Amino acid sequence: MRHIFQQGSDVTAPVLVLFHGTGGTEQDLLPLAQAISPTSSVLSVRGNVLENGMPRFFRRLAEGIFDEEDLIFRTKEVYDFLDAAAIEHGFDRSNVVAIGYSNGANIAGSLLFHYPNALRAAILHHPMVPRRGIQLPDLTDTPIFIGAGKNDPICSPEESEELERLLSAAGSDVHVHWENSGHQLTRSEVFAAAEWLQGIS
Ligand code: MLT
Repeated sequence: MRHIFQQGSDVTAPVLVLFHGTGGTEQDLLPLAQAISPTSSVLSVRGNVLENGMPRFFRRLAEGIFDEEDLIFRTKEVYDFLDAAAIEHGFDRSNVVAIGYSNGANIAGSLLFHYPNALRAAILHHPMVPRRGIQLPDLTDTPIFIGAGKNDPICSPEESEELERLLSAAGSDVHVHWENSGHQLTRSEVFAAAEWLQGIS
């Protein structure tokens, strides 16, 4: 997958894997990584799917309605890519923390829903429930931060709460940070994520 890897100054710090939103690129979230953990190595990935020229991590049939078959296929593709990238770039695969926004939060969420030990932790900005009706892996050792907007028209507060319940039921220690805003990624939400990551590292 197309990506950028930046070696951090602290090899023991979590390796941040960045997943952009619809229409983004691997450049978009680099400032976020800098704000959240400046000494970390960073792997920033571009989604392999194009929707009217806009990169995404999996296909959708309509806004908020996912192509489940493609989601499953693309989730495995990302999972395999992380394994290969860890070997190629020499980072600790077991110390990967995902940071995703919107569509990128949804592919990170899907990794958590489908694979045990896919991530050490995850920061999901404005995620949705990636799939329903499946058994999640044990997420006891996988803390998760959710940044949600009380007025988010794409990820409703009810859906954010449903996601929190599903992840908690799988054993994860989930922290939900609420903003009064909509779907946009706010600075205060990023600072809250940075503080949260310090607390779990
Ligand atoms: C998605 O397709 O993942 C969600 O609708 C969020 C987005 O607009 O990308």
